[in-house]
Amino acid sequence: MSIEAPPARVDEVVSQALEAHSGSRGALLPILHAVQAELGHVPPSVVPVLADRLNLSTAEVHGVVTFYRDFRTTPPGRVTVRVCRAEACQAVGGQALLEHAVTSLGVARGETTPDGAVTLDEVFCLGNCALGPAVQVGDRLHGRVTPARLDALIGQTRGLGR
Ligand code: FES
Repeated sequence: MSIEAPPARVDEVVSQALEAHSGSRGALLPILHAVQAELGHVPPSVVPVLADRLNLSTAEVHGVVTFYRDFRTTPPGRVTVRVCRAEACQAVGGQALLEHAVTSLGVARGETTPDGAVTLDEVFCLGNCALGPAVQVGDRLHGRVTPARLDALIGQTRGLGR
């Protein structure tokens, strides 16, 4: 189970983001990024708050949150595994690696395993193109990742690896 931030923490983060950005035009995106950077996602409860404070409709704010794939509306797992789907990695098996991860973890892209351990995501270039397929596990970048190695990396993140 992923962990939601307490409402007081959400309020604090939203207030800080509004304070930092609300004076500028086009403030919504930087505010949403700031909220996600702090909380790991954009809780649906912040949509009406931001709409009110930025003089937008809730539909407008909701539309931005759901349009950009970077924004999550649910908390991520303890570790996020990002498989590169950009061209150079696709040429050396990136798509097959992502499909393997979907099967191995039993979740679709963007979803989190039921135990809250791992969120699977795709990314479009990790700057490691010469060593594809590239995968980011948490903060660490890995190159030439095979399906077996990906399973081992995921196992390590769950404390199962050796
Ligand atoms: S294309 Fe995958 S790291 Fe650049």
